[in-house]
Amino acid sequence: MNVVEAKGFRIPIVGLGTWALRGRECARLVEQAIRLGYRHIDTAQMYDNEREVGEGVRASGKRNEVTVTTKVQPTLLAPRDLERSVKESLAQLQLDVIDLLLVHWPNPRVPLSETLGAMAKMKHEGYANQIGVSNFTVALIEEANKVSSEPLVCNQIEYHPFLDQDKVIAACRQHGMAVIAYSPIARGSAKGDKLLERIGKAHGKTAAQVCLRWLTQQGIAVIPRTSKVERLEENLANLEFELSDAEMNEIAGLARRGGRIVDWSWSPQWD
Ligand SMILES: NC(=O)c1ccc[n+]([C@@H]2O[C@H](COP(=O)([O-])OP(=O)(O)OC[C@H]3O[C@@H](n4cnc5c(N)ncnc54)[C@H](OP(=O)(O)O)[C@@H]3O)[C@@H](O)[C@H]2O)c1
Repeated sequence: MNVVEAKGFRIPIVGLGTWALRGRECARLVEQAIRLGYRHIDTAQMYDNEREVGEGVRASGKRNEVTVTTKVQPTLLAPRDLERSVKESLAQLQLDVIDLLLVHWPNPRVPLSETLGAMAKMKHEGYANQIGVSNFTVALIEEANKVSSEPLVCNQIEYHPFLDQDKVIAACRQHGMAVIAYSPIARGSAKGDKLLERIGKAHGKTAAQVCLRWLTQQGIAVIPRTSKVERLEENLANLEFELSDAEMNEIAGLARRGGRIVDWSWSPQWD
């Protein structure tokens, strides 16, 4: 499995996203994904499926080979809340440790130094192996790296060809952080895009595979979600071909204003 390296931590380049997967279906897909070769599973407290994700990981019999990511929700970033909620996550997952623990969204009402202090404590106390962030802007990446006593290995952000994330990616790279792309097939809308379909046809691949390959070829880790077993294989197989420089540039041209899919307006806002 290809990996993205950050500060000595190796993140498998293709993982399974699990937002909206629930119950037995979730556990079954996680187990199946690992059997097919996935080595990174992404969940969060907010997805309400940590129990099933843990079940699927344990059932695969390959727990030691798999990176399990979970995230602390923005309303629980004050140190005492964070510590309690991480312990709850681990109890839900029923795993030995959280491999990668992320701050799900920043919360301007809690000083970042306090949140990251608590995240570091969780690492020191053996609840998490590595820590990182998600949905951090350039300014927050700068601040986080200044105040964190522990290395922050990644920033998980929305990224796909329809959204320009060059500035945030440059800031992550400057600080040696891996970028993990969420909604990497634009919630399924890569399928049906004329350019991605055309390039896919030339390679005997689907538009979703071209979309994912465009990301992985840039050294970006991806966590596509699917509820269909056959698509687990399809999405993993994005690693089996190469896009030309010309194709990479053409796809980059799809970025547009308003290309963001995930709405930030629900999350705690800066004044
Ligand atoms: N950190 C954050 O704030 C944050 C925010 C959003 C998401 N995430 C994480 O990122 C993961 C992925 O993002 P996402 O779930 O928003 O969107 P996504 O992975 O871009 O898209 C998922 C959608 O695409 C469809 N799909 C999957 N494979 C396909 C294929 N090969 N061809 C055509 N359609 C395909 C799926 O439908 P089927 O089920 O029918 O295949 C599903 O409707 C999430 O599950 C979650 O783990 C994190």
